[in-house]
Amino acid sequence: MAFQVYVIAFVITILFYFRYKSNRKRKINLPGPWGLPILGNVHQIDSRFYKKFVEWSQKYGPMYRVKLGGDEVVVVSDAKIAKEMYSADIFTGRMTLDGVSLYETEPHLGLVNSFGEPWEQLRRFTLRQLRDFGFGKSSMETLIMNEVTEFIDGLDASNGKSIDNIQHRFSVAVVNALWTIVSGERYSHQDPKLSHLTSQVTKSFDAATNTGGLILFAPWVKHILPQLSGYNFIRTVMDQLREFMIKTVETHKPTFVSGNSPRHFIDVFLREISSTQDPTSSFYKDVGEKQLVACISDLFFAGFDPTSKTLSWAFLYLTKWPEVQKSFKKEINSVTGGNQRAVTIADRQNMPYTRALIEEVLRLSSL
Ligand code: HEM
Repeated sequence: MAFQVYVIAFVITILFYFRYKSNRKRKINLPGPWGLPILGNVHQIDSRFYKKFVEWSQKYGPMYRVKLGGDEVVVVSDAKIAKEMYSADIFTGRMTLDGVSLYETEPHLGLVNSFGEPWEQLRRFTLRQLRDFGFGKSSMETLIMNEVTEFIDGLDASNGKSIDNIQHRFSVAVVNALWTIVSGERYSHQDPKLSHLTSQVTKSFDAATNTGGLILFAPWVKHILPQLSGYNFIRTVMDQLREFMIKTVETHKPTFVSGNSPRHFIDVFLREISSTQDPTSSFYKDVGEKQLVACISDLFFAGFDPTSKTLSWAFLYLTKWPEVQKSFKKEINSVTGGNQRAVTIADRQNMPYTRALIEEVLRLSSL
């Protein structure tokens, strides 16, 4: 009995020691919930961490601190403050995704995970080139409509039976529209390779968040719980994704001729690499090629995942609120003469209800 008391006293002392040390090390002077040594507040959140964050914001205010593994994190729960922060350069940094990034030992490549000078160079270049290839312009409409047609054909083929995994169907359609601009390639919606890759990427995002982001904030768990933390799965998917992107670039290299008018984003990036002489540039030789692989991979998953998730939320809301669905349908009928043709981008200005509906879906859905 005495031994057990000693053990308990020892454990409590150790916990208080870590608590004391972490308080002394605390850099952010904001209120926030108490957490455990080492884990911080990770054990208090799960895959629906936004719910916990809302609960905490009601207790601690619009800006509070949580500790996620070894990182102190500031949670902003106020649209005005968030907007102010997003427009300040000082907040453009990115955390290090230890081991779960595309290149295991180089976590700051590409658009999403980079910061500073490389991010500025790549972002400026990518935005300009995508715009030149018609991204976000009406010239992209034909591309999108091809995907819409194949998507609807897929729904029709179910012959009125219930449809599963709508998000996955959206993912493949969105990837295709994007991928034509990035690589000039389009896949059939039934293509097993593309279908497998998109669903694996979606599952890897889920694996990273299911444990409340444990693998992101406490990356050392990959050594202790490689399977349970989602690390093994995410690593496998990232390796598959990288291989797919490398193969895509390699396929285009032999057909790329510097000086010819570029056919897609990969061509313009290869042209930039071939003309870059500055060794500090993000487009220089091998670094440039790795950045190309990382950038197209970022466009791939940053493009399809939020878009297909937003569309899936839209479907769910329309199912949940049939009266909204009815008004939406009424507006479509009013511009298409009773569904005689497909809607076009030009109809946008005559569809205020639909525009408001999209804004509301974006506001309401938690991405
Ligand atoms: C409904 C659709 C979409 C939503 C809701 C969405 C949302 C977001 C959000 C919240 C961020 C993070 C912003 C930040 O941390 O500063 C982001 C970043 C990004 N998104 Fe999207 N996105 C959508 C569609 C797309 C598409 C279609 C593309 C592909 C062309 C794309 C490419 C990117 C990239 C590359 C980044 C990283 C930008 C950077 O760090 O500079 N997104 N998106």
